[in-house]
Amino acid sequence: VLPGKRLSLADVEREAATVLDPVHADFFAGAAGDESTARANLAAFERIRLRPRVLRDVSARSLATSLLGRPNSMPVLLSPTAFHRLAHPAGEPATARAAEAAGVTMVVSMAATTRLEEVAAHTTRPWLQLYLQPDQDFTRHLVRRAGRAGYGALVVTVDSPVFGRRERDHRNGFHDLPGGLRCENLVDDAGVLRDIVMDAGLTWDAVARLRETTDLPILLKGVLHPDDARLAVEHGVDGLFVSNHGGRQLDGAIATADALPGVAAVVPQGFPLIVDGGVRRGIDVVRALALGATAVGIGRPVLWGLAAAGQDGVREVLELLRTELDEAMALCGARSPGELGPDVLAPHLSAPT
Ligand code: FNR
Repeated sequence: VLPGKRLSLADVEREAATVLDPVHADFFAGAAGDESTARANLAAFERIRLRPRVLRDVSARSLATSLLGRPNSMPVLLSPTAFHRLAHPAGEPATARAAEAAGVTMVVSMAATTRLEEVAAHTTRPWLQLYLQPDQDFTRHLVRRAGRAGYGALVVTVDSPVFGRRERDHRNGFHDLPGGLRCENLVDDAGVLRDIVMDAGLTWDAVARLRETTDLPILLKGVLHPDDARLAVEHGVDGLFVSNHGGRQLDGAIATADALPGVAAVVPQGFPLIVDGGVRRGIDVVRALALGATAVGIGRPVLWGLAAAGQDGVREVLELLRTELDEAMALCGARSPGELGPDVLAPHLSAPT
């Protein structure tokens, strides 16, 4: 091992902290209220004990998986995060190139600091995250742009009727992007920069309307309750992100690893379920798949990689996770993600709830 070599996502996090402006580091790390949900996400994964199988010939392994019919090299994707140019001047295009090189899906944030068309030029697997706007024409305009630019799915974030109260940002007075940076997708045809509006009036009707507007697959992001998962399936939604927004919306919300089994129990077999929040190790990916996820998303680690070393840093984060996941799978006696199920969970976790 080379001295100073980064061995884990925690090492990349430490590296990022040495280069980021402390106010921006707080924006990336911060969460709502007491940040208890952000901590709970980590703790819930850590609590899950595995019960590995042995003597199963795991010499030939593959992490390959499929998401909405597209091959991905491993069951890990990049969850949408705002403002990549705040982490590194190369911004979203650098992230997109790293995702492409790693063979994984990037979910581009509506609050990207690069136009969605430009990001899509750097990756073949982009999905677009949206906050449905009260101005339905503007939402439709973004959806059309996404379709034309080759986006493979829309990820509609539904955990944000109001903006989570992030005390670090209030304390730091961080409310606006610094000079030269803006949410490029919020510039309308007239060249006017709009604000992203958190629409407290949204209901399932908005999902039904969106379903009628577009043929793109729709995933809802921020579902934690099994009854909402059922409603999503009834509304023709194509997949779910079991997510609490990395603890940035409702502080006190259930950890995502704790919410996942309840959601997995009510959706049809094979229904795309992505879990994000607190995934920091390959072993967390194993835990998520064993609990019923199709894939995991990572948020903050992407920003750490970007801050630490731009495109190479994001790639490094993904390759660290890939190596860890491959080893963890072998140690559990599995040769592919599909072989990981409740069988590898310690008994009290696999018992029916
Ligand atoms: C986010 N997240 C987020 N989600 C979303 O739907 N749209 C967005 O624009 C953003 N922006 C954003 C910025 C930052 C700085 C963070 C940390 C998070 C939430 C993100 O998609 C994901 O749910 C969490 O980040 C997952 O938790 P971890 O991996 O950060 O623990």
